[in-house]
Amino acid sequence: MEENIKNLNMFLSDLEVMTVKLQNYHWYVTGKGFFITHEKLEEYYEEMREQIDEIAEHILSKGYKPLANMKDFLQNSEIQEAQNEKIKSLEIIKNIIKDLETLKKQAIKIKQEADNKSDYETSAMMDDYLKNYSKKLWMLNECLK
Ligand SMILES: [Fe+2]
Repeated sequence: MEENIKNLNMFLSDLEVMTVKLQNYHWYVTGKGFFITHEKLEEYYEEMREQIDEIAEHILSKGYKPLANMKDFLQNSEIQEAQNEKIKSLEIIKNIIKDLETLKKQAIKIKQEADNKSDYETSAMMDDYLKNYSKKLWMLNECLK
């Protein structure tokens, strides 16, 4: 399998684990900032589900197979799952910042490889995600001040 497809599948796995984690936090958030965090998290995981679908279909359009089961997602994800425990907004924000930085790193790696192979579709797709994650990181980091 092409190196870039392997990385796209790893990225897909990260996003799958991340959406479960965001929904976990949506349910388990507690304390100050509950309402806003609860709502934001739902917005985040719904947005990521669209990215997941886009990446999987992009892999298919290139004639390759996207990973599509939980076992494979967990094995290929760098993102760590959350516990089934209540957690404060501030902790959630700190954890999500780390995870978004991981996703950004993955997207940059995929973009660089795609550019080297003149795969402009994949490269442009990563631009959208990078912009999306950078904006989230800016806002989340502001919340910590
Ligand atoms: Fe909900």
